[in-house]
Amino acid sequence: MPSSHPEPPTDLDRALEIAPRDWAPRHVYHLLTGLVIPRPIAWVSTYGEDGVRNVAPHSYFNVVAHDPPHVVFSSSGEKDTLRNVRARGAFVVNIVTMDLVEAMNVTAADFPPAEDEFTWAGLEATDAVVVDAPRVARARAHLECRFVQEVPAGNGTIVVGEVVHLHVDPSVWHQGRVDPALLDPVCRLGGSAYAGLGQVFRLARPTWRDLSSARHDVPGPAPS
Ligand SMILES: Cc1cc2nc3c(=O)[nH]c(=O)nc-3n(C[C@H](O)[C@H](O)[C@H](O)COP(=O)(O)O)c2cc1C
Repeated sequence: MPSSHPEPPTDLDRALEIAPRDWAPRHVYHLLTGLVIPRPIAWVSTYGEDGVRNVAPHSYFNVVAHDPPHVVFSSSGEKDTLRNVRARGAFVVNIVTMDLVEAMNVTAADFPPAEDEFTWAGLEATDAVVVDAPRVARARAHLECRFVQEVPAGNGTIVVGEVVHLHVDPSVWHQGRVDPALLDPVCRLGGSAYAGLGQVFRLARPTWRDLSSARHDVPGPAPS
């Protein structure tokens, strides 16, 4: 099927149907990161081979297993974070909360490898409890990860980490679990747009039993 538009139109007068290869990669990037929203942000902290502290945000990020727990993030190209993870075999995911958004943004700048991004962003670091990586001291939660493997994916490298230690601050805990409103995480949207959590609502998941027994109650068509 031919693509409906050779590049992103200013106004969309009919449905967009495109093959990614027909668009420049930057246009595909904007389309995808505008559609796959909101994205959580892994603020990944590492030590370089030479001991330099590094921290950088990654919104190609998610949790992919819980027993034992695993997370993934993807590096677009080879950056200091990826090199450090390879060299030290460890990283920490610092959860980005609203109070840290400005500092997080500073650490996204293209610092040369020898620069300590904690210092530039005015952040204090502490050693992780279990892995060979620093933590952002002010973060309300940390996932300490052991580097498990990397998987090439397009222009990215997916880094898989096993979460071997977790830290949660009491300020975000309520009645046995993390309270989303207290955590107040930053959500990444497209481009330079971010969002807070917005409305939180709950939805009970139906079981097959609920659904199938409800169907018996629906009157069928009258016999002809
Ligand atoms: C909110 C946010 C999310 C980002 N997500 C990613 C990402 O998922 N992958 C990536 O390679 N770069 C991402 N970046 C860009 C990196 O943070 C940036 O290139 C940074 O300089 C990399 O630092 P490093 O070289 O110290 O690893 C993101 C930037 C921001 C502001």
